[in-house]
Amino acid sequence: MRDSFILTGILSILLSTGCTSFRSPYEPKQTGSLKGTFKGDFTIGTAINTDQIREKDATGGKLITDNFDAVTPENIMKAEVIHPEWDRYDFSLSDKLVAYAQKNNLKVNGHTLIWHSQLPSFVRRMKDADSVRQYFTNHIKTVASRYDGKLESWDVVNEALEEDGSMRRSIFLEKLGDNFVVEAFRLARQASPNTKLYYNDYNIEEPAKRAGAIRLIKKIQDAGVHIDGVGIQGHWNVNYIPLKHIEDAIIEFAVLGIDVAFTELDLSVLPNPRNTIGADVDQNAEYDAKLNPYTGGLPDSVQKKLTVGYESLFRLFMKHSDKIGRVTLWGVHDGQSWLNNWPVMGRTNYPLLFDRQLKPKPAFYKIIKIKENYSVNNQSHQKNARINQ
Ligand code: G3I
Repeated sequence: MRDSFILTGILSILLSTGCTSFRSPYEPKQTGSLKGTFKGDFTIGTAINTDQIREKDATGGKLITDNFDAVTPENIMKAEVIHPEWDRYDFSLSDKLVAYAQKNNLKVNGHTLIWHSQLPSFVRRMKDADSVRQYFTNHIKTVASRYDGKLESWDVVNEALEEDGSMRRSIFLEKLGDNFVVEAFRLARQASPNTKLYYNDYNIEEPAKRAGAIRLIKKIQDAGVHIDGVGIQGHWNVNYIPLKHIEDAIIEFAVLGIDVAFTELDLSVLPNPRNTIGADVDQNAEYDAKLNPYTGGLPDSVQKKLTVGYESLFRLFMKHSDKIGRVTLWGVHDGQSWLNNWPVMGRTNYPLLFDRQLKPKPAFYKIIKIKENYSVNNQSHQKNARINQ
């Protein structure tokens, strides 16, 4: 009795001091879940990491299955993990991911077959075009065919464009020429006819890069090669969410007859030292305390900005839900986000819908409310329309 009294006391001190190493339970879903809320509008996904695939955290696991109906592996399907040597593939984690998803009734978006970054070292050392072509062909055939039909979709090619819309200067462009994207889709379709195929990139809502993405997608289609959709990554900052560009992009991509997905959504609240936008993993800057202002918690004013940012985005997604197949958050909770380490290592960022204790943030409740209000407004709108007929 006395022991449990002491334990309760210790727990309340930890909670009142906001101790981040203590994780309070995830709240049950009486308030509504993300996937329940947007059922019938679009699939809601999250990126998951190795610990989550290995089901190391029961509370976090429940949060995922309560709120999401799709997962994207944040890192474990990238070439450097899945294909570490010329003649050796390592499917241990990706097989585990597929089993985890099947068990929990989650769709999987494979990420990613062809990306200039996170390549295995044997590829980075390649000098001749023949070796690169052989790697490229074997990699797509082997990986895509293993999971044919077991994945909902693949990001076949990731980030092949520069900011001005031209092709990115990468090992694939240099050694294989600018038809490599078409070839990647052709090979992926042959190897995996039962999985949807997407082109995925950041900043493709911005006009010049968007025009480049449209040229690329048309090139694939004009070659008679199958493509199902385009992924707009959606790495934005609370101080810069280009809503007009995003809306134009949704409309212009949909006109091509393909699905639009938001594949890596998060909203950084921290200053970007170089003032650039997007998610180029090669960007980095020195740590400076001025660049890390919220180590003690997120001020209300910034929390509000985050909420307003998510609210305006989800209003837009609802407006165009007929064109949008999936919205995926890039991580489950703030503690897991890559934005704590990019473009500056070791910062405290708050870009997602659940905090470090797995508690839903005001933005979570807000977007659930939007949908409730949206449904009510839509019903009364439809009712008024019927009355006026
Ligand atoms: O696994 C190693 C670990 O063994 C090692 O001790 C540690 C030391 O740094 O590094 C670990 O690898 C890190 C890996 O994430 C797993 O945590 C890499 O250094 C780190 O570079 C890698 O970052 C990932 C990044 O892509 C590069 O692959 C981020 O988690 C991931 O969120 C990010 O995701 C990309 C998308 O794939 C494409 N679009 C942009 C997006 C954000 O950059």
